[in-house]
Amino acid sequence: MVLVAGSANLDFVVRAPHIPAPGETVLGGAFQTFAGGKGANQALACARAGGMATHMLLALGEDAFAAPIEASLRGAGVTLHTVRPHGAATGTAFICVDDHGENAITVAPGANACLQAAHLPPLQGFSHLLMQLEIPLPTVTAYARAAQTAGLRVVLNAAPAQALGPELLAAVDLLVVNEGELRALAGNQGSVADCLTRLPCPAVVVTLGARGCVARQGDGFYAQTSFHVQVVDTTGAGDTFCGSLVAALARQHTMGHALRQASAAAALACTQMGAQSSVPHAADVLAFLSQPSHVDEAQALLALRQFAGLP
Ligand code: RIB
Repeated sequence: MVLVAGSANLDFVVRAPHIPAPGETVLGGAFQTFAGGKGANQALACARAGGMATHMLLALGEDAFAAPIEASLRGAGVTLHTVRPHGAATGTAFICVDDHGENAITVAPGANACLQAAHLPPLQGFSHLLMQLEIPLPTVTAYARAAQTAGLRVVLNAAPAQALGPELLAAVDLLVVNEGELRALAGNQGSVADCLTRLPCPAVVVTLGARGCVARQGDGFYAQTSFHVQVVDTTGAGDTFCGSLVAALARQHTMGHALRQASAAAALACTQMGAQSSVPHAADVLAFLSQPSHVDEAQALLALRQFAGLP
């Protein structure tokens, strides 16, 4: 079983020709709401990947914004451990998506900021704990240490980027970051491979957008090129990657296989609007992976390995 501990937000989304610069007003299209939050998106992606019971520890307000989030997660089969801090509002995110599917996100954490060490449920029966950084860092550190002591594999998606203490990093088995987060944690010197090697965790995965992703596990490196799709909205693609990756690893798949599954799921998540609304089911990922590829995968892999400076 996988336990996800993290944020849940209601996303308020508007499409616009471009993301406004500071001081600029942009006229957008219709406004929509979607269930979101990095933690909740990852829990839902883990559940939809199939084959692994998924639980989530989350904090919600006693307001109307909580209901669509709960409905989305329960609809995907996620078992909820819900904290309802008195007087706190459900977390919200304000998202502008541009015509290329890129986004800019501002989060009002609300109840997410109230998750504390004492809220962690009993860990018996769980093999993996998956977390992100939209809940307080001391809470993430306390959960990671408790999970490590209980023998779980601790997976941390270090997003949004922030400095991590040695105590937290020492409790993490697998770190998942994008390139900006990797360089924020490992320093800016050298190649992606150099940065992966400098981090103390046993395994690190870095997502590199349209290029694909690269991982270090022990002394070994893996590279997975991205899948080409018609991009509508990239919101939640990284979360889909994390949830699918952990679901595959929890099913004891190899890192190479897990990266392929996660990359395919993340690509499909870019083809529809919204975060949780766009997370694919296992059958969709299977069908997508069985389609013939129209790109030169060997050449893309070589370019990815060169970009990342892989040995
Ligand atoms: O990663 C995407 C998510 O970031 C959105 O769903 C939003 O809620 C923010 O947490």
